[in-house]
Amino acid sequence: MKMKAAVLNMPGGPGNLNIEERPLPGAEQGQVVVKVKALGLNRSELMTRKGLSPNVKFPRVLGIECVGEVEDDPSGELKAGQKVAAFMGGMGRDFDGSYAEYVVLPKSIIYPFDSKLSWEQLGAIPEMFQTVYGSLHLALKIQRDEILLIRGGASSIGMLATQLAKLSGLKVIATTRNPDKEQLLLKNGADFVVIDDGNLSASIKNMFPDGVNKVLELVGAPTLKDSLECTAGGGAVCMTGMLSEQWAIADFAPMEYIPATVNLTTYDSGQIRVDLPSFQQFIQNVESGLIKLSIGRTFRLDEIVAAHQLMESNSAGGKIVVLP
Ligand SMILES: NC(=O)c1ccc[n+]([C@@H]2O[C@H](COP(=O)([O-])OP(=O)(O)OC[C@H]3O[C@@H](n4cnc5c(N)ncnc54)[C@H](OP(=O)(O)O)[C@@H]3O)[C@@H](O)[C@H]2O)c1
Repeated sequence: MKMKAAVLNMPGGPGNLNIEERPLPGAEQGQVVVKVKALGLNRSELMTRKGLSPNVKFPRVLGIECVGEVEDDPSGELKAGQKVAAFMGGMGRDFDGSYAEYVVLPKSIIYPFDSKLSWEQLGAIPEMFQTVYGSLHLALKIQRDEILLIRGGASSIGMLATQLAKLSGLKVIATTRNPDKEQLLLKNGADFVVIDDGNLSASIKNMFPDGVNKVLELVGAPTLKDSLECTAGGGAVCMTGMLSEQWAIADFAPMEYIPATVNLTTYDSGQIRVDLPSFQQFIQNVESGLIKLSIGRTFRLDEIVAAHQLMESNSAGGKIVVLP
């Protein structure tokens, strides 16, 4: 039997993603074959597509996350048809990922779950939830009444972070470079929207003279120093994203770079995994309407080129989901 997969034979533009027919993969012990029902697109896949992930070998099927149904578990532990989510763990980088009708995954990265949500909604969840929950609760340890600055507030991670922080009782300042997105961000729950020109510390200190308590940094190295300068003593900045595609700091001198008593941390969903009960609880919060997922647009697998073009245009306004 054959399946369709979007294969990247060599790095380049969106047009380098080719739909190909491949043999249906089989699972060995410790692996599971998953029928992919939906997958969210991620900026890291855009970076891999451009050749910015140095360890990725080609040809490669990209896709660091998916939701779907178990097709075959040789151990018999997971029944065929069980709903599962998977993300990271080398998916779409070290081995072929989710831009396909079927994917073979190590059992260690699989979360079985129950839900009546549509596959479109479920497809938006795994990596987005994991990253936002981990950044806010495990890295930044957000507390009620704190002020949180979300740098890159119009990204899908930024939009969900706004909602989770509001549910935890924080005041949220969301940034965008695009004034047209102000209403979108306010409607999503932000208390304030600030237009980011790369230098926010003066305007943030005008609003909050002591600075903010926490910063979720999604733009990356170019704005990180300014984010640290927006932060009150004892507060913290978590570098989770690099929308700027820059993640290294040249000549890093910690004592000049980090203001005294401000904490700098990171979150990487490749290093830490949120527990299964928190994942299931999040799905229930979406089902009950407590969380509103912002889905930018949905594509079919054979529209993967257009989906990547939309991601690169920064105009999706939410998570892009592909339904194979
Ligand atoms: N650490 C982890 O484990 C982890 C996991 C998942 C994702 N991430 C990272 O989190 C970040 C957000 O991911 P996402 O999927 O939510 O992104 P996304 O939805 O594709 O973000 C799109 C938004 O990013 C902003 N943006 C794009 N380029 C920018 C630039 N050069 N400077 C400032 N803003 C820019 C644009 O907002 P405006 O036009 O409104 O400014 C755009 O609307 C990415 O860097 C991603 O790699 C990290």
